[in-house]
Amino acid sequence: MGSCVFPVFIGLILLQIQKISECYKMEVTPDSGTIVTFSKKEGQGLDCSACKDEDLSQTCNSILKLTEARPTNVTFNCSQPGDIFTVEVNQQIDCSTSGCSIIAVHPDSTRFLEFSRTFTWDLKVQAGRMFQLEFPSPGMRQIKPSESCPDKHTYTIITYQRAGPATIGSFCGNGTISRIQVLYRGRVTLEVPKGTDLNPSNFKVSMGPAATALVEVDVKLSRGPSSADFFTPNYPTGYYNVDKIKWNFAVQPMNNFTVYFRQYTAPECQKNTVMCDYALGDKTSFTMAPTDIQPTNKQGDFSLTLTNCDAKRGEKVPGLSLNFNVEVFRSGTPYVCTVDLRNEEGLSLQIENKNPESYCEMSLNSVMQEKIVVPAGTKADLSFLDCPVQDLQLTATKVIDCPSVSARDISGTLLTIPALDSSLPVPLHQFTWLLRVQDQGTVDLMSPKGSLHQSVPDKQCNERVSLVISETEGSNIGLFCSAAEGAVQKIQIKGNVSITVTPNNTKDLSQEKEPFLKFGTSPEITENVIYTVYPLISGPAYLATPNWPDGMNSSSSVSWIIYIPQEYTAELMFSNIVKPTCDSGHTEVTVGPLDSQGQTQTWREDQSFPSPIIQQQSFYLNMSNCEPKSGRFAVLSKISLQKESKKFLGIILAVFGVLLLLIIIALIVVCVIRKRKNKSNANRSSIFIPRGKNVLPGNATFPKSRADNESHVYASIDDSTMYGHLDKNQPAEVDSGAWSNGHQVDGYRSFTGPTDSIPAATDSSAEYSLDRREGDVFQPFLDPATTFNLPRPRTPLISQGSLRFEDRRMMDNTLNTFKGAGDINAIRLSADESRLQPQMDSDSDSYPEQEYDEAM
Ligand SMILES: *[C@@H]1O[C@H](CO)[C@@H](O)[C@H](O)[C@H]1NC(C)=O
Ligand SMILES: *[C@@H]1O[C@H](CO)[C@@H](O)[C@H](O)[C@H]1NC(C)=O
Ligand SMILES: *[C@@H]1O[C@H](CO)[C@@H](O)[C@H](O)[C@H]1NC(C)=O
Ligand SMILES: *[C@@H]1O[C@H](CO)[C@@H](O)[C@H](O)[C@H]1NC(C)=O
Ligand SMILES: *[C@@H]1O[C@H](CO)[C@@H](O)[C@H](O)[C@H]1NC(C)=O
Ligand SMILES: *[C@@H]1O[C@H](CO)[C@@H](O)[C@H](O)[C@H]1NC(C)=O
Ligand SMILES: *[C@@H]1O[C@H](CO)[C@@H](O)[C@H](O)[C@H]1NC(C)=O
Ligand SMILES: *[C@@H]1O[C@H](CO)[C@@H](O)[C@H](O)[C@H]1NC(C)=O
Repeated sequence: MGSCVFPVFIGLILLQIQKISECYKMEVTPDSGTIVTFSKKEGQGLDCSACKDEDLSQTCNSILKLTEARPTNVTFNCSQPGDIFTVEVNQQIDCSTSGCSIIAVHPDSTRFLEFSRTFTWDLKVQAGRMFQLEFPSPGMRQIKPSESCPDKHTYTIITYQRAGPATIGSFCGNGTISRIQVLYRGRVTLEVPKGTDLNPSNFKVSMGPAATALVEVDVKLSRGPSSADFFTPNYPTGYYNVDKIKWNFAVQPMNNFTVYFRQYTAPECQKNTVMCDYALGDKTSFTMAPTDIQPTNKQGDFSLTLTNCDAKRGEKVPGLSLNFNVEVFRSGTPYVCTVDLRNEEGLSLQIENKNPESYCEMSLNSVMQEKIVVPAGTKADLSFLDCPVQDLQLTATKVIDCPSVSARDISGTLLTIPALDSSLPVPLHQFTWLLRVQDQGTVDLMSPKGSLHQSVPDKQCNERVSLVISETEGSNIGLFCSAAEGAVQKIQIKGNVSITVTPNNTKDLSQEKEPFLKFGTSPEITENVIYTVYPLISGPAYLATPNWPDGMNSSSSVSWIIYIPQEYTAELMFSNIVKPTCDSGHTEVTVGPLDSQGQTQTWREDQSFPSPIIQQQSFYLNMSNCEPKSGRFAVLSKISLQKESKKFLGIILAVFGVLLLLIIIALIVVCVIRKRKNKSNANRSSIFIPRGKNVLPGNATFPKSRADNESHVYASIDDSTMYGHLDKNQPAEVDSGAWSNGHQVDGYRSFTGPTDSIPAATDSSAEYSLDRREGDVFQPFLDPATTFNLPRPRTPLISQGSLRFEDRRMMDNTLNTFKGAGDINAIRLSADESRLQPQMDSDSDSYPEQEYDEAM
């Protein structure tokens, strides 16, 4: 290339216009390589000349040609030269001496607005080659020479052959022709009338292949139904030369085409005949006469080569002239159905095609639509053409206008997906109810299954469908599911509510016949949302502020009314808090008992929230947001229930453990004293230790102090060995403190030896784990308060002198932790009880190690 880089701009850099009376002056600077010519239109009566201001000597003429790329003053001695003169901007592009690579041709948009403008490009390639014009998408559209383009930008292509010039055709922008190749030499002309802004279709010029025809036109036919017209050179006068004209058509899939010869004038052939050669795809090709019926209802890409004969020329002898069009239409047959929503009040449907690549065509009452909307209360004819069901999405919305609060009869109305027309080929993807209340009414939502569960990451919905509940004038409240095991019994929402059902793994919601929710209305409430919560014994309940994890609406409030069953206490934790900086007001979190006696506690965003908060009875938890300056207010709280009786049980167990220890210690002391006496008699004897295999040589002084006794020194203590007999879910802190941090420690193994000779702590302790009532027996035994100062029941360490000590509670009942000084709590009880309390394990992190240590 190199040598063939043409200046690509046509037009003017500087244009300065001065209007003097009866005179028109402008400064013109042609781009290098372009020629600007002003020429008088033919047959103009008015007398006006164009003058070039060179020094003082003016040269005036009816044609003014500017070839040099320098500023020139042009003067017309009339005030409106655009009526008399046209301007032509010409550029020569010669690709004959080099391999001309692609050159973008941009007519400069600098305007001679008051003139009719003609932009011409003279193109030339080596003999035997074609020059190639490529048009950006959308391409060009061929028109009859008598026609004009809607945007008044008309392109004309002329070829210069030995026999003389021939017009290839006239074209407008916005069509299907993507490329035109023309033999050897030619000219492209763009004509823009006076007063029209130049908005060119920037085409590319390059050297094309070796010639196969006089003209080759590439067409990308658009999707059906569509139609495109084509004309032979010199239409309608006629073409006489023995030449080929070739059209290549690309047809989109799912479309059929038909070729119609609309207007054909046969030449008077002296030699040969006019032939139409078709090639369909890569394989099929056939030849037809122009008078035959052309290919009809075919699929795939094709080409048509029209070969002229050696035609007789003459004044009144017609040449070859053909106008044909290619019609494209869809190959498939549409699926038609009718949807009648007149009997289902408030129900509307929406169908969307989610695949933009697909050839799907949907229409509503015979009008093609991108997205079908069938309004409530109407009947509609739908048609689907080549629409794969998996690409379509059907969503339905039902608006329910709740009667005024005084009319209570709607309470407990069930929300069930209505049966949709079975002929509708699309599975139901989403269903939304809009519950509208009058004035400041409240919508009450309940589950027909008993309760609702709010889906949070820690405890997600596992149902087949989930419900997104939103305030229509506010934010999403949350994602819920109807569940047999849920903590939320009722949600009350002020104002209009929308409920959207989305399937989890069901494909078609219309198969869901069961009701999803029950609703009613009640009078206005003070909060935006009120939840009625019955926490489950089986696990924690998570309570998220509306729109969690995003922030609550500013100045909105939410309230949870939490009912605690008898004999249980609730532990409320704020497991995730995001606090805003308030602009006006404060966020408030208030906890108070429901029976209005007792203290309420309130915290603002600038205070730190305590956690956990223990509530002995049913209570409310209210939260309200301020007008945040920055940040957001979002809280996730967790409520766990604990059986109150355990506190007493813990105390009892502790007391009992201590008693047991005292008895054992007493026994041991007695034993040791007796053994000492025996020892003086028999020097070398063994001590039988029922639970271990230790047989001590007689002169080993036993009990040796633990510090000296190497039998308990462990290189490392394997927790799983140590606690293998304990519950696998044993909290981690149990092994961290007292058991291995430098204390005198032995592996604590379950007792396997005979028990009859040993005081059986096992059997009796098991009894106490059963029920508090049995424990009551021991109440008069010891004042519970005194037990707080006693060592914890888990005290085999204290009785380290006795390897025989065994406390069955340490096997079956694992003491979890201490809540705080003196407050014994959360004791893992028997297997039966622990099933009731799985949350104890996961909650273990709520008891920091520090507290544990303090308790000691
Ligand atoms: C413009 O100038 C030409 C030649 O200089 C002259 O023939 C013609 O009459 C002039 N036209 C007007 C309108 O002055
Ligand atoms: C064109 O005319 C203006 C004044 O009308 C003058 O300043 C300018 O130099 C002239 N340009 C040329 C190239 O003669
Ligand atoms: C292109 O043509 C189509 C139909 O022929 C028309 O709908 C569309 O508006 C045109 N676009 C432009 C940019 O002229
Ligand atoms: C489209 O063409 C195919 C094959 O040529 C034919 O089977 C089909 O019926 C045609 N479609 C229409 C709508 O005519
Ligand atoms: C969807 O259902 C599957 C099985 O029914 C369950 O494992 C999954 O957690 C559910 N997902 C949601 C988001 O509900
Ligand atoms: C509530 O917040 C949502 C976005 O979280 C917003 O779209 C909506 O307008 C807000 N409503 C009010 C009443 O401020
Ligand atoms: C509920 O929506 C209806 C219709 O959009 C409206 O007229 C009504 O005021 C809304 N109710 C409330 C409480 O905002
Ligand atoms: C908390 O919310 C409940 C329910 O809306 C309400 O009755 C109670 O008065 C509120 N308490 C406070 C202190 O705002």
